[in-house]
Amino acid sequence: MAKRNIVKRGEDVLAKKCRDVTVFDDKLWTLLDDMYETMQHANGVGLAAPQVGILRRVVVIDVGDENGRIELVNPVVTSMKGKQRELEGCLSVPDLWGYVVRPAKVKVKAQDRYGKNFEIEGEKLLAVALCHEIDHLNGILFTDLAEELLTGAELEDRKS
Ligand code: NI
Repeated sequence: MAKRNIVKRGEDVLAKKCRDVTVFDDKLWTLLDDMYETMQHANGVGLAAPQVGILRRVVVIDVGDENGRIELVNPVVTSMKGKQRELEGCLSVPDLWGYVVRPAKVKVKAQDRYGKNFEIEGEKLLAVALCHEIDHLNGILFTDLAEELLTGAELEDRKS
């Protein structure tokens, strides 16, 4: 496994729509392993392939719950319920946070690293992560959706 560079906001690759994965080979497995390592090293809870410069529909998530490491290939949101408004950040957008309204609960269908179909349901932080990462595959950043953007210092001011 190897850590990859995380692309930052402003680079074209983050605004593009990713293509489906059609070949489930060792190149994909290396990408998934590298993405997971990169995400963990950066203390993130999710990472999408365009964030490492790859325009493919690949996502890794680990929100520290019982699901552990989640790998999603060609994920699609199939149902959404309710609403939640939470503070989000992104490894591609250093030192900016914003409140985003997302569904409270989502269902996603995807393929695993071998091409096998599965479904995953998430609520709370997992629902946020699923939506946030799948948005990346469509060239959408949380900064496109947030009501207001705050720097780390501004956020600290709010808390005190
Ligand atoms: Ni992100």
